[in-house]
Amino acid sequence: MKILIINGPNLNLLGQREPGIYGSSSFDDYLKKLRQAYPDVEIDYFQSNIEGELINKLQEAGFTSCPVCDGIVLNAGAYTHTSIALHDCIRSLKSPVVEVHISNVHTREDFRHHSYLSAVCRGVICGFGLDSYRLAIDSFLSTK
Ligand code: DQA
Repeated sequence: MKILIINGPNLNLLGQREPGIYGSSSFDDYLKKLRQAYPDVEIDYFQSNIEGELINKLQEAGFTSCPVCDGIVLNAGAYTHTSIALHDCIRSLKSPVVEVHISNVHTREDFRHHSYLSAVCRGVICGFGLDSYRLAIDSFLSTK
């Protein structure tokens, strides 16, 4: 099984950025543990702060080069709440996408309560810290 994790803007700062909300682990450290926990799953990772690069990666993984990509775990960061372009991209993909958030966006500011992505994703996982990513992978494993 092959899973692609995509992180959007400011998620390269995990571990340093607002640790009270996002925790004190870097994503690289977390990813190492995740790969150890799922030795039979190939977990690829991509991060960008740029909306168009996220779209290019989603198209590449979910449409063109990756018929064996079983699932995409997407934390689009703040683009979740703004991006019709990501919405349009996700709805055209063949690979299923699970939307994840580290924090529980529904307990935070009003502008975080709406997602342009949820309606075109297979499901949404939010509020479990970095464990949200593991739960998303589990969802792909249990629906395979
Ligand atoms: C986030 C929540 C978003 O509202 C925020 O803009 C982020 C991170 C999360 O993982 O909790 O950058 O997606």
